[in-house]
Amino acid sequence: MSSQVKLDRLIELAREARERAHAPYSNFKVGAVVECRDGRVFAGCNVENASYTLGLCAERVAIFKAVSEGACDLTRVVVIADSSLPVSPCGACRQIISEFLPAEAEVVMMNLHGQVESKSVAELLPAPFNGSFL
Ligand code: THU
Repeated sequence: MSSQVKLDRLIELAREARERAHAPYSNFKVGAVVECRDGRVFAGCNVENASYTLGLCAERVAIFKAVSEGACDLTRVVVIADSSLPVSPCGACRQIISEFLPAEAEVVMMNLHGQVESKSVAELLPAPFNGSFL
């Protein structure tokens, strides 16, 4: 999988995005970055709402930003939170990640203490729903 942007730079951008999280209900701020094959990078943070279920995770914000800007060839995701272990994307985010990144693409999970865990998209979601009923 091509890696155009240095991991350190992606982590820095994810940390900065996390600072912009709107998380007054959970107080759990998350930052995410998605890298495109052309070198573009899109960052996202979780955005919560008083109507709790309307909130969106950082990973989906980053991916939807990328896709809505025409960047569909996504190659890597970095996600970071102030968690005791590297933050692991929720099930909904795994499904969205698997829609836009290849099975072998890397998802880098981190916490603010610098602990890092890396898994492929397929490891995180081995059996994605793929619309095969169509
Ligand atoms: N959250 C994310 O942004 N990404 C994840 O992978 C897990 C959870 C957010 C959603 C909510 O705003 C807060 O973390 C607490 O669940």
